[in-house]
Amino acid sequence: MDYFIGVDLGTSGTKTVLFDEIGKKISSHTIEYDLIQPQNGWAEQNPADWWNATVGTIKEVIKKSDVNPSDIKGLGISGQMHGLVMVDKHGEVLRNSIIWCDGRTGEECKEITETIGKERLIEITANPALTGFTAGKILWVRKHEPELYEQCHQILLPKDYIRYKLTGLYGAEVSDASGTNLLDIAKLEWSKEILDKLNISQDLMPKLANSVDIAGNISEEASKSTGLTVDTIVCYGAGDNASAGIGTGVVSTGKAFTTIGTSGVVFAHSDEPQIDKQGRVHTFCSAVPNKYTIMSCTLSAGLSLKWFRDNFCTSEIEVAKYLGKDSYDIVNEGVEKLPIGADKLIFLPYLMGERSPILDENARGVFFGLSAIHTKYHMIRAIMEGVMYSQKQCLDVINGMGVFPKEMYACGGGAKSEFWRQMMADIYNTEVLTVQNEEGPALGVAILATVACGKYKNVESACEVMIKTKSALESNITNHEAYDKFYKLYIKLYPMLKDSFQELKKIN
Ligand code: XUL
Repeated sequence: MDYFIGVDLGTSGTKTVLFDEIGKKISSHTIEYDLIQPQNGWAEQNPADWWNATVGTIKEVIKKSDVNPSDIKGLGISGQMHGLVMVDKHGEVLRNSIIWCDGRTGEECKEITETIGKERLIEITANPALTGFTAGKILWVRKHEPELYEQCHQILLPKDYIRYKLTGLYGAEVSDASGTNLLDIAKLEWSKEILDKLNISQDLMPKLANSVDIAGNISEEASKSTGLTVDTIVCYGAGDNASAGIGTGVVSTGKAFTTIGTSGVVFAHSDEPQIDKQGRVHTFCSAVPNKYTIMSCTLSAGLSLKWFRDNFCTSEIEVAKYLGKDSYDIVNEGVEKLPIGADKLIFLPYLMGERSPILDENARGVFFGLSAIHTKYHMIRAIMEGVMYSQKQCLDVINGMGVFPKEMYACGGGAKSEFWRQMMADIYNTEVLTVQNEEGPALGVAILATVACGKYKNVESACEVMIKTKSALESNITNHEAYDKFYKLYIKLYPMLKDSFQELKKIN
């Protein structure tokens, strides 16, 4: 039996999973790290934390299993998208990574749009300039930290940095590169026109490949630190959503998934690039060669619940520790008894500003309708509902593009909760499926590694063997109608508050 590793470099932590060649999970380990918020709306992480977590989790999955490292044939890495990692000519990181949910680059995005032209930018990259994406972050560092920019030798995305640490080789691949605002999506190469106009040297950009291509082998140095052998092949891997697409089998038209992770994502497979001209949802390359994805991204899905738990649920965290349970399960118990609509409390989940579909880095979170009857659990229920309304609003945009997924899968940490999955089914008014192996992105990149190693002839046939649908939750029409009344009000709230968010930003 051959074995494959998937490393999922997430925002709350890195999860590494060891699978056998038919997709059975052998062992798994997660190491968490911090989100650094130097200012309101900014978000950074230290790439050293990612690397330490990668090494620690790989060592641990090998240790927890009986698998001989020489039987681990391949490894793939999935990563949080868009983050800017700058390294110098010795491969040393120059500053913390400015990550996907950072909203500081409003000015730089305006500059990009003016320099390239809004329509031309969409024509080349399929997306408008967005604060989450990488190009604005590059311009921000060049403007505010010119001495660091001077020393920059390579611009890498988070998982591409980790792949570099594992193989010693620089590289990038198309699924993640399509979230930089710098990829020519038709030619599948860095856009010379954009790089020239923005005055970013082509030399800073790593070589591009497909997600399933072989990037190299584990280096001698990485072999010593991880316990893997130098014979293990590392494939290019993919951005976390493209990886989750593979890991849930969303590799053909009609299939879609919703992730409730730190971010919230509605993701549909597409054989052709389909573009929302208003840029409310993104068009990226898929990890399946020459295919595409349409996806929305909200910035504070699981993040909203984690924020509330960490700040206001210390007793639940203690009880969970004592009982050996997951603190989210304890929190859920208090919420499930409450009625739909949380007794008329609505939450707008804009804690980090918002990307899809409102595209406003100055938006902030709101509890609307707060009353003295509300308890902490009403607030939690409102958070869960608000996060799901925001996914529904994104799905509505995707439907508006003529894309109506026939199969909707749920994945990410939030999807582990049957309560939240049922809420998804009821709010969307659709059946919600899950797959047997819940590892999503980690399984997705392990599957890419099987294809890179020649175990399966392509991604689709690997998915047929390695992914099995588990369960379906049906939508309850009475619940749907009850949620829908609140959803209709939810979508009216942001337009009413838009100018006030701007005003709030301007207060010194
Ligand atoms: C996608 C996005 C997030 C991150 C973190 O555009 O920004 O989903 O990849 O998960």
